[in-house]
Amino acid sequence: MKLVHTVAELRDEVTAAKAQGLTIGLVPTMGALHEGHASLIAAANKENDFVVVSVFVNPTQFGPNEDLDAYPRTLEADCKLAEKMGANVVFAPSPKEMYPSTDDTWVEVTGDITKVLCGRTRPIHFRGVTTVVTKLFNLAQPDRAYFGQKDAQQVEVLKRMVKDLFFPLQLRVMPIIREADGLAKSSRNTYLSQEEHTAALVLSRSLKAAKAMYKAGERDAAKITAAVTADIAKEPMSNIDYVEIYALPGLEPVSNPMVGSNLLAVAVKFGTTRLIDNVVLEEK
Ligand code: PAF
Repeated sequence: MKLVHTVAELRDEVTAAKAQGLTIGLVPTMGALHEGHASLIAAANKENDFVVVSVFVNPTQFGPNEDLDAYPRTLEADCKLAEKMGANVVFAPSPKEMYPSTDDTWVEVTGDITKVLCGRTRPIHFRGVTTVVTKLFNLAQPDRAYFGQKDAQQVEVLKRMVKDLFFPLQLRVMPIIREADGLAKSSRNTYLSQEEHTAALVLSRSLKAAKAMYKAGERDAAKITAAVTADIAKEPMSNIDYVEIYALPGLEPVSNPMVGSNLLAVAVKFGTTRLIDNVVLEEK
């Protein structure tokens, strides 16, 4: 496996792979790789001949008071895991390499899809994500790109971008990977104290209970969100940002009664750490 830091080096790797007729899988990450990322790399390895993993803590998707400086940076360990899971190249550029101009060029998905849920408290976040992912798509020219369902709103926004900008690639979405105790894997879990980690288990518990309500026939979204909100609020260390349901695809307003596929998403702070989690409610 090769570690490269520059756009020119990545382009050389991609050109060589394409010249051999290899298919390319891209796994964009911000590093601090965990089993969730490992599952994305494994899937990319299975479905493509050549796998590029990007490791870049993208400054433009962090708001002014967010954790850009504190975000864990563990490139050596990331490279080891990426290699073990079958990556051919790790691309770890500097901010200057990815944003070479003093004034930035943006790719932005507008409309409610980027304004609801996380978009409400993180107004510039998705513009940063779509901009950096566009740059990565242009550089790696993947046949397939891999993202985790944990970031369900990101996935919906990126699907919209791929469709509207005619990116010639397949966006592959992999299931949420959880700790044995139920907590969804996240690079930000390392910020949690033991007490906060234990408190945060209420998220997966309440989402599981919501799924059971849905399976038992409940189709009133307000009743389901009220039950989840009440469950989470019982945990004294929790500070709820949102508990909401939107229709899939596209995060449209949910109908009453709910029909089709719907996303129940939560964002909750434990201490200073904001965690997200979700479950899809649909008849199977
Ligand atoms: O999901 C992430 O880790 C990031 O938002 C992404 C897609 C790598 C863009 O920086």
